[in-house]
Amino acid sequence: MHSEQHQDVYESVTAILCDARGGVDNNVLPTNLLLADSPDELLALRAPDKNISIFSWAAPTELREAVASRMPADLITGRWRVPKHASETLLELVDDQVTRSIMAGLLPAIAAYSQLVHGTHLEVSLEHTREQPCPLFHVDRLSYRLLCTFRGPGTQWLDDRFVHRRFLGKGSNQRIVRYGANIYEVDRFDVCVLKGESVPGGYRRGIVHRSPPVSPCDGTRWYLRIDCP
Ligand SMILES: [Fe+2]
Repeated sequence: MHSEQHQDVYESVTAILCDARGGVDNNVLPTNLLLADSPDELLALRAPDKNISIFSWAAPTELREAVASRMPADLITGRWRVPKHASETLLELVDDQVTRSIMAGLLPAIAAYSQLVHGTHLEVSLEHTREQPCPLFHVDRLSYRLLCTFRGPGTQWLDDRFVHRRFLGKGSNQRIVRYGANIYEVDRFDVCVLKGESVPGGYRRGIVHRSPPVSPCDGTRWYLRIDCP
């Protein structure tokens, strides 16, 4: 596990950004987190007490280096709609070899995600940004969303025990986040599936999360998002 002390001036609280993986005492992990050892374990996110699952995809070093060394303008972006039971067709839609290797590596996780959702098609987006489109902590009004960041910082999320849900949607992170809370950040190439509030019984139980700020030294953030409306 890596972690760092981080003075978050915007929030006026001290936050610790960390990934929540190997070598961590399970007793201190947020209870709403499901750490999946295999793509199929992502399905356990159906459990009512879990609202985020993370699977560490062992992306090859060469692939990570190829992504890190690319000019931001050369990072592929696009939107595709594919039948959820034929997600391998994504490989035919992308010309770029690096992007295709990423898609191929993620197919098992995408297949697991497809079993979680009820729609017939996946809406797949590859995007890059220097912005923080959702700076406020919030919940999504959908069932499940898959995210994987390949470059720059990953999605930030909170332990349910440190959230004041009554302040969601009211424009103040300081009120949402209890003082002293850890702000967790999904590591690069880790697949996370977020549970929104549209799942049965999901009202007031969705994962509280936000887009990460992108610092000048990060340059850009490049990520995959999959929804199934
Ligand atoms: Fe969101």
